Amino acid sequence: MAVAAAGAAPVVRRSLGRCRPLCCGAGPRGRWALPAGGGSLRLCSTRVSLEGINRSVIDRIIRVDHAGEYGANRIYAGQMAVLGRSSVGPIIKQMWNQEKDHLKKFNELMVAYRVRPTVLLPFWNVAGFVLGAGSALLGKKGAMACTVAVEESISDHYNNQIRTLVEEDPEKYKELLQIIKQFRDEEREHHDIGIEHDAEAAPAYSVLKTAIQLGCKAAIFLSERI
Ligand SMILES: [Fe+2]
Ligand SMILES: [Fe+2]
Repeated sequence: MAVAAAGAAPVVRRSLGRCRPLCCGAGPRGRWALPAGGGSLRLCSTRVSLEGINRSVIDRIIRVDHAGEYGANRIYAGQMAVLGRSSVGPIIKQMWNQEKDHLKKFNELMVAYRVRPTVLLPFWNVAGFVLGAGSALLGKKGAMACTVAVEESISDHYNNQIRTLVEEDPEKYKELLQIIKQFRDEEREHHDIGIEHDAEAAPAYSVLKTAIQLGCKAAIFLSERI
């Protein structure tokens, strides 16, 4: 865990420091608001060919992960809008910065793997911000309770995907597995930061957590499919 000892300001490990960037992704131009690049279908850092991949599995994984990271960004944006100037502003900002790196990576993966985003992005844009701002209006503990609920759901979700990819072909999906494992670890760190900042002392913590996690499950279900 990358959180400093009790009493000191928590430090979030810099995202993607151990991940080599994809350097040559390209997708159908003009269809999505994603950056255009070269024409190769290979992930240059590992030279993984897209030939023979399980298209439906990869589509589902990348689409839902992109949606999740997009939603996480909107949640932290909403929390920052309310609590940005408070004592927890810097730690929320640090977590948000990591989510920006996660989203950037999935933007690259969508292009490289030619996966379209979910049609629900405009909805997650609003819903994520409302959830972030709404939880922050309950106070710092409310915001942290939201973080704990969401990050626990996302890290469990990433664990499920890791199992799926390992069952499929760990060698073929080596780079994707590496990325998802790293992000899973970072989401766990966010979860732990929430706990350390008194999430469990939030008003109606159990109800709030259950409700948010039900929402996360619905969001995952829908974003994998449409
Ligand atoms: Fe993330
Ligand atoms: Fe996170």
